[in-house]
Amino acid sequence: MINFKRIISTALCVCMTGMLLTGCGGSTQESQKKRIVRIALSQAETHPEYTGAVKFKEYVESKLGDKYEVQIFPNELLGSQTKAIELTQTGAIDFTIAGTPNLEIFADVYEVFSMPYLFTSEEAYFAAMNDTDYMNQIYESTEETGLQVVTWYNVGTRNFYAKKPINTPDDLKGLKIRVQQSPASIKMAQTFGAAASPMSFGEVYTAIQQGVIDGAENNELALTDNKHGEVAKYFTYSKHQMIPDVMIANYKFLNELSDEERAVFDEAAKLSTEVEIEGWNTQVEKAKKTAEEEMGVTFIEPDISVFKEKVKDVQQEMLDANPNIQDLYDHIQEYNAKYEKEAK
Ligand code: GCU
Repeated sequence: MINFKRIISTALCVCMTGMLLTGCGGSTQESQKKRIVRIALSQAETHPEYTGAVKFKEYVESKLGDKYEVQIFPNELLGSQTKAIELTQTGAIDFTIAGTPNLEIFADVYEVFSMPYLFTSEEAYFAAMNDTDYMNQIYESTEETGLQVVTWYNVGTRNFYAKKPINTPDDLKGLKIRVQQSPASIKMAQTFGAAASPMSFGEVYTAIQQGVIDGAENNELALTDNKHGEVAKYFTYSKHQMIPDVMIANYKFLNELSDEERAVFDEAAKLSTEVEIEGWNTQVEKAKKTAEEEMGVTFIEPDISVFKEKVKDVQQEMLDANPNIQDLYDHIQEYNAKYEKEAK
């Protein structure tokens, strides 16, 4: 399967590079008329992000269908998230949806989201991410990378799951846990006491199945959409991160649109987020039920305070190591404080 994907991905890359080099959008008359806009994502068609991408496509085509055709490539068909971001950077594709850890190596301001226990409530998380005026400044600050984020998606909390139960951080000792391919994710898992194994999302199932790793960390949908619940039967609500996924655009494509076109793409991005967020909770409930009843997964509610204690110094260490995250960090703390106060 992986090889098959690689072949498709390589073929598409060669083909797209060729198209870019010759400056033409294809050979048929139809494709010469319309600019093909490509969106890559790693999730399956059942994931709310895919539904969001479909909304994006429908909206853009309803307004600008004579000029643009939007094509969606799910399931890491164009490669891992890092690969897809590279393709977006070069302009071989126009958009990709990825978790912010994959962006860290391109723009280190996004490291902030990998901090364990960054947000102290879901309310603070949503309010900070929906503070569009502030977030747009962050999104627009990455011009030199050739990339620009256009919107965010909620993908819940990240939690450990493995072949054996994890009740406390001590249970993570010596376990090989897959993390996303980012320095901050590696550091976090190591601080918890695990042996961090960075790899792309698409490789996780086979790695657990073959015993290359003992487990991973993610949201509930990974158990069902990606079938990880078939090979890892214990899911622990450590809730150690709330990391957004983001839709990333090729900077040049986005910024060369006319004002009218840009307004359509911006609105499409906004609508795709609304649709994704609307679908998220229902999908999580469904995934939990399927994982429990059909896959035999046990969900564990641990004492989170012992997990927090274990990584309590990581935020400050990350701030010391990367001054670029300070402003966004402080901004998020204002939301944390606001919602803590409101809850009292
Ligand atoms: C989640 C998230 C993805 C991310 C994946 C991973 O599914 O939505 O963006 O890539 O986790 O752990 O790699």
